[in-house]
Amino acid sequence: MKVSIIGGGGRVGSNAAFALQCAGIVSEIQILDANGDLALGEALDLLHGSSVIADQRIYAGDYARAADSDIFVITAGLRRKPDESRLDLINRNVALFEQILASLKTAGFRKDALIFVVSNPVDILTQLAVVRLGLPWKQVLGLGTMLDTARFRSLLADELKLAPTQVKALILGEHGDTMLPIWSSATAAGLPASPPRSKPNSSNVPKGAEPKSFAAKAARAGRSASPLQKSSIVSPKTGVSSFQSRPFSRASTDCATSRSAFRPSWVAVV
Ligand SMILES: NC(=O)c1ccc[n+]([C@@H]2O[C@H](COP(=O)([O-])OP(=O)(O)OC[C@H]3O[C@@H](n4cnc5c(N)ncnc54)[C@H](O)[C@@H]3O)[C@@H](O)[C@H]2O)c1
Repeated sequence: MKVSIIGGGGRVGSNAAFALQCAGIVSEIQILDANGDLALGEALDLLHGSSVIADQRIYAGDYARAADSDIFVITAGLRRKPDESRLDLINRNVALFEQILASLKTAGFRKDALIFVVSNPVDILTQLAVVRLGLPWKQVLGLGTMLDTARFRSLLADELKLAPTQVKALILGEHGDTMLPIWSSATAAGLPASPPRSKPNSSNVPKGAEPKSFAAKAARAGRSASPLQKSSIVSPKTGVSSFQSRPFSRASTDCATSRSAFRPSWVAVV
């Protein structure tokens, strides 16, 4: 299987290439980037490790050489700045993305190729790829709430002091400020992790049952904990609801989220 990573010289693209190398599940990894030197450097770095990892062809290429790829991963684009939403990137990244799609069309691509969009705003750019490339929507995937789901699970696990794989939960919707945590799907070590039922007060918190809160972590990181809200969750250890902070604002059981949803201030902005 051949994978071409457009934007592969950047942080996300080069990490994707490294993950593909370590997993050893593809035979060919091509790195394309507007910055040719960066693409070359990343490809060489990976290539130098290939003798101890897997037999793969790894190189810096171009659109013509990418035409027979099974998968195109598109990570090219600008990152958002702190306090900028993913949607704020639209003006800067849409033009750039259109240019990439035009280059793909000019050089040609297999009609059964998969296009995997990572660049933000990912939902919009994924739809744009469907339209501009004329591919069935099933062949064009965006890395959206899969990432948010993984983050959500890891944050819950950290809060509950559980192994991350023991926490299941789901984020749906836009990969952005309106993403939606599906609390009814959340389980911790097989037990339901419930949404808040009432305002927390110290009297109904079993002594010693409250784990270190998000707010405490935020405070430790020297940042404001103001976006974080209080909620309850069933403790897998005690089986009772204990109150702790979590970074969601709730409108209903499976809650609507606010701009700061699922983004505690100590989590890196990507
Ligand atoms: N969907 C997600 O879950 C998710 C997660 C993380 C990052 N992102 C997005 O991925 C994108 C990349 O993030 P990053 O941190 O790797 O940024 P980065 O700046 O490290 O890398 C971007 C790369 O794209 C290259 N590039 C720019 N224009 C190009 C073009 N026209 N053709 C080919 N290459 C081009 C740059 O030279 C650079 O190497 C951003 O838009 C970011 O918001 C999305």
